[in-house]
Amino acid sequence: MNARPRIAVTGRIPDAGLDILREAGELVAWDSLDVASPQQVHELVRGAAAAVTLLTTKVDEAFLDAAGAQLKVVANVAVGYNNIDVAACARRGVLATNTPGVLTEATADIAMSLMLMATRRLGEGERVIRSQAPWQWGMFYMLGSGIQGRQLGIVGMGEIGCALARRARVFGMDIAYSNRRPVSPSIEAELGAQLMSMDELLATSDVVSINCPYNATTHHLIGAAELAAMKPTAYLVNTARGAIVDEAALVAALQGGEIAGAGLDVFENEPAVHPGLLECEHVVLIPHLGSATIETRAAMARLAAHNAINVLSGIEPPTPIPVPAE
Ligand code: GLV
Repeated sequence: MNARPRIAVTGRIPDAGLDILREAGELVAWDSLDVASPQQVHELVRGAAAAVTLLTTKVDEAFLDAAGAQLKVVANVAVGYNNIDVAACARRGVLATNTPGVLTEATADIAMSLMLMATRRLGEGERVIRSQAPWQWGMFYMLGSGIQGRQLGIVGMGEIGCALARRARVFGMDIAYSNRRPVSPSIEAELGAQLMSMDELLATSDVVSINCPYNATTHHLIGAAELAAMKPTAYLVNTARGAIVDEAALVAALQGGEIAGAGLDVFENEPAVHPGLLECEHVVLIPHLGSATIETRAAMARLAAHNAINVLSGIEPPTPIPVPAE
């Protein structure tokens, strides 16, 4: 009889994580790059003491029922955890964990890249070359907007927001932010960051970057009214979660010239993208690449594995998800 705990991994993760998990228990891992269906996930997690999940895995009552009462931990290989019903986990004594920290720099790089790509029309320029359309250097050809001396408004000043601010400062931008609470005075001073109400931030920023978590409070935080409140010369960047922005309202604002452009790494109904966005030349669209570096994904897998095995060993995991007050 084998007493090693069953550990289920619901999607492909780097070996750096699998090797740690294999040491700690009987590993059953989804072995395909295709996303497992809920039924396939439920089959996989049946009888598991630990489930290591991806952001494409829905951890809801049905998942928890399928796993069974021996489940102790759900270790998400992502910083965002809107795929997990954390309260439902807590009610059953299941601890949920995520992977903050290790993907901060990679995600901030992508936000900075999107800001540069959108303001300097890089996607549009690349499409011209690839289409082999005739082009010629010209004094007024494909002019974008400079970001030096402009204000970056960061919505959600957590680790990724701060890492983006650090980059933007080097590019000569001024930093405004809106957050549930002010960041520490030392971080404010380091970043020269000014706390603003959402209204003030939207009305005064040249680029607005979304860096807050997605939850019931932030669903459609940026809708028609917020987009209308932005400057017509301003850009929106989203590397957080698609549904923080009302995508249909964004398409209308872009088509109506209410804002100058956008850079998006995430989409409301991912992997579907609103067809209106595809038609907007002044939008940069990339497929959820925030944490997509070899090093970052390995670090995420390692952290998730440590979270899982700590819980199995009765030790506090490095990065537990706070349980919401019910
Ligand atoms: C990616 O989107 C993550 O939440 O880690």
